[in-house]
Amino acid sequence: MVANDNARRTPLIAGNWKMNLDHLQAIAFVQKLAWNLKDAKHDFSSVEVAVFPPFTDLRSVQTLVSADKLPLAYGAQDVSAQDSGAYTGEISGAFLSQLECQYVLIGHSERRTLHGEDDEQVAAKVKAAIKHNLVPIICVGETAADLELHGPSAVPVAQLKTALSGVSNAADIVVAYEPVWAIGSGQAATPEQAEQVAAQLRNVLKETLGEDVAAKTRILYGGSVKGVNIAGFMREPNVDGALVGGASLDIDEFSSIVRFQKHVGL
Ligand code: 13P
Repeated sequence: MVANDNARRTPLIAGNWKMNLDHLQAIAFVQKLAWNLKDAKHDFSSVEVAVFPPFTDLRSVQTLVSADKLPLAYGAQDVSAQDSGAYTGEISGAFLSQLECQYVLIGHSERRTLHGEDDEQVAAKVKAAIKHNLVPIICVGETAADLELHGPSAVPVAQLKTALSGVSNAADIVVAYEPVWAIGSGQAATPEQAEQVAAQLRNVLKETLGEDVAAKTRILYGGSVKGVNIAGFMREPNVDGALVGGASLDIDEFSSIVRFQKHVGL
């Protein structure tokens, strides 16, 4: 194991709810999650926690977080590349900003495979997010077929290069490496596999946005993360957190992931 060189980066544990929990369930869930973590004396300044509910929940989550001053961040699962206009079904970054979202997921593999989003659309959405003061969490990752054909990092590296094409080095961004074969499969990448790709992604950040941005940008791992395997990922020098799907819908499991420092001896 290499000594951690990520002291400058606050770990981020992000829960992608996907199409789960309506707005009433979201209120109960967020309230319980916050209580649970407060009870456990979680230090939110040492590990940041964010949730990504469906669009229809965001106003309720905003109201709760602001009324109860909860130390949780939240964001949307997608954003339009457009600001406004005749784009039926799309959601503008301006609207998300109004709801005090800090983050937005962009280019999740389910958007890419089920909704045909390509790298150029992802790049346009990244630009739109930054324009509206949202921090894009840029998702990249290879399929099992890509892995066999091109090796571990070629596809995520190419995806990130295109996604960053319109980004200046003043922008605040997060990168999430999610191998498609590890999502929802119960078969997570090994920490070594995640580190290998994360290191390559950090090189892309260095080449395109410079040393400083590369040093401060958080790179998350996603794909079958659970309380029992988070420790291994967080020990890797280039992995700065996790993007969690299924396990983010279970308060105890998600809290255990958030509190990884308690069980990894970091
Ligand atoms: P799982 O944690 O369910 O594998 O999902 C990962 C994911 O897609 C998070 O965005």
